Amino acid sequence: MIVLRIFIKKHILLAVCGGIAAYKSAELVRCLIKEGCEVRVIMTASACEFITPLTFQALSGHPVQTQLLDTEQENAMGHINLARWADNIIIAPASANIIAKLAHGLADDLVSTLCLAAECPVYIAPAMNQAMWHKPVTQNNINILRLHGFTLISPQEGTLACGEVGWGRMSDPSSICKVLIKSSAPSEPYLKDMHLLISAGPTREALDPVRYMTNRSSGKMGYAIAQAGIDAGANVTLISGPVSLSAPTGATLIMVETAEEMFQAVVLAAKNHQIYIGAAAVADYTFDELPQKIKKQQPNLQLTLYKTKDILASVALLPQRPFVVGFAAETHDLVRYAQEKLIGKKLDMIAANWVGKARGGFEDEQNALQVFWEKGSSELPMMNKKDLAVKLMTLIFECYQKKRLLREK
Ligand SMILES: Cc1cc2nc3c(=O)[nH]c(=O)nc-3n(C[C@H](O)[C@H](O)[C@H](O)COP(=O)(O)O)c2cc1C
Repeated sequence: MIVLRIFIKKHILLAVCGGIAAYKSAELVRCLIKEGCEVRVIMTASACEFITPLTFQALSGHPVQTQLLDTEQENAMGHINLARWADNIIIAPASANIIAKLAHGLADDLVSTLCLAAECPVYIAPAMNQAMWHKPVTQNNINILRLHGFTLISPQEGTLACGEVGWGRMSDPSSICKVLIKSSAPSEPYLKDMHLLISAGPTREALDPVRYMTNRSSGKMGYAIAQAGIDAGANVTLISGPVSLSAPTGATLIMVETAEEMFQAVVLAAKNHQIYIGAAAVADYTFDELPQKIKKQQPNLQLTLYKTKDILASVALLPQRPFVVGFAAETHDLVRYAQEKLIGKKLDMIAANWVGKARGGFEDEQNALQVFWEKGSSELPMMNKKDLAVKLMTLIFECYQKKRLLREK
């Protein structure tokens, strides 16, 4: 078992477009780094005419990408990886051209393609001549972007690079920095001082020294819940099976491999936490691990599987039990199985989701949940797992509070 305290810096991806204000974005990189962010920079071809990639490389400490089709970069961090890497994207300066392209879903260069591929919040800080800014077509495009969830950091009024006076000057780097830093802070720390235990990901059950049995869980849902808990101010312990995800900044991460290791880690930690959310896909059965690799000698091979310990039910039976939230992933009879599990395992709440083709759930970026508790239920429709985690977290907290108030009466 490996225990790690995770402090990963906020990842900000800065996209620089072609305009005089591009020089101000050098200052923005410095501001963001001073605030503890890790910054990567991408530039449009026009932006490179105004300021060199070398400036941003030196300030950010990372190579700057300027091309969509870059064979060397595609091996290391291609545009999709970079989109996934970012917690926030800021386009500064955002040219009238990129605003128009994004509003209409164009993807003909690195910046526009990456923004289309991104699922994180995207901020735009426009900078342009006042006539360009006031043109109905630009204003329409801005409105479209707002509707699509982009956040506008409005330009300011003042003397513009072209000598005219009016609206169109890019917001100050320090103001843009403040918006980005604020956006990463918890909106309302309703879980402040609370201790949240989350188990996530799959387990691996070894058959012999080279083979194991596992499942399709990616850990994304559990990790998104951990992030939502941290954003709401909680102290989060994340017990994770083997996944290829970065743990959220601030979480205490405990890495395990087998169902038995996960059981031991969760049961040990549970009494020190007020809420336990079991989002891991724990193997129901395991093998007696063979000391040597099985050879291909017999035509058929029979293996005996042994039932693993039930983590949720065991935590729910602890004398000092936390509020216990289980997950149910089902291919059929979802509601019936979920309700049986809620009652049978004495859980406080259960979040059920369909698994299987085109239904979200395992390995997918999206999911939908049907949540049940003793006196109620709620349906959370299909959405990305980060947003779903935030909604689930508030629902869990509401139920937890109700139960606590009832107990105190
Ligand atoms: C000297 C100069 C300054 C420019 N300044 C701006 C500007 O501030 N805002 C803008 O939207 N376009 C400006 N442009 C036009 C853009 O550079 C042009 O539309 C370009 O195609 C933008 O490409 P990009 O969006 O891929 O960066 C300027 C052009 C020149 C030659």
